[in-house]
Amino acid sequence: MEKYDKKAAALVDRSYQTPEIVNQRLRTLAGLALRRDEHVLDAGCGTGLLLEQEALAVGSKGRAEGLDYSEDMLEHAAARCEGLEQVHLQQGSVESLPFENASFDALSCTQTLLYVDHLDRALHEFYRVLKPGGRIAILETDWTGAVLNSHDQSLTRRIFEAWDLGTPNPNLPKRLRPLLLELGFGAPRVEAIPVLNSSYSENSFSANMLESYARVARRQELVSQQESDDWLAGIDKLIQQNEYFFCVNRFLFTAIK
Ligand SMILES: C[S@@+](CC[C@H](N)C(=O)[O-])C[C@H]1O[C@@H](n2cnc3c(N)ncnc32)[C@H](O)[C@@H]1O
Repeated sequence: MEKYDKKAAALVDRSYQTPEIVNQRLRTLAGLALRRDEHVLDAGCGTGLLLEQEALAVGSKGRAEGLDYSEDMLEHAAARCEGLEQVHLQQGSVESLPFENASFDALSCTQTLLYVDHLDRALHEFYRVLKPGGRIAILETDWTGAVLNSHDQSLTRRIFEAWDLGTPNPNLPKRLRPLLLELGFGAPRVEAIPVLNSSYSENSFSANMLESYARVARRQELVSQQESDDWLAGIDKLIQQNEYFFCVNRFLFTAIK
């Protein structure tokens, strides 16, 4: 499982500021439709990129709570949201939220549920802390649909599978909608948000992540050091030939309590 230490926090902070992830955040914010003075929770707030935008949307008389497991991620969030008095940060687990029932008008959880050991507990907690009529936005990725041009497609598939296999809840988008309905959420909507890099740029999501994909696959002993080196070298060659292509879908789920 990915540990969000200082190094990982810096990597996520950089790769989540690339244009395709900025677009994903804008779509998530649009899905939440925050209004002035509302109370919002970003569960698994990471480095605070979405939380900052949520805080600006609810304004200084609103409340934007950010909760995350990782101290190192929260340090980034604190620096990012400094001066926004409506922001409150705390360390904790999304499986046991330190908030009263019906505290929030809206709740977001992006790219976090895949790491959570007890998914059912986290989803129950989300339902519990939302007010009746409260809105939820959850965003997750399904790596089985990832596309990358490479010289060895079966090796690429193994490397992407390793990314999913290292988490307790891989490929959540396929099964999230019925889980939300079972809990009592209504009006569920799902949209696909492609992260598409149709040519190579250092300032792209996938460029920032290639080494991490290889590292996770090596750590799980699903590929050898040699295979991982060959994979990265093969991609470098395609970059030189201007033949880079990457795409993976993220899925945004919105619903109402
Ligand atoms: C890929 S990052 C996403 C961060 C942020 N939501 C975003 O989209 O920018 C995953 C985050 O989930 C957090 N996380 C994982 N399991 C958690 C749990 N059980 N409770 C709270 N946070 C958790 C990690 O510490 C990390 O900050």
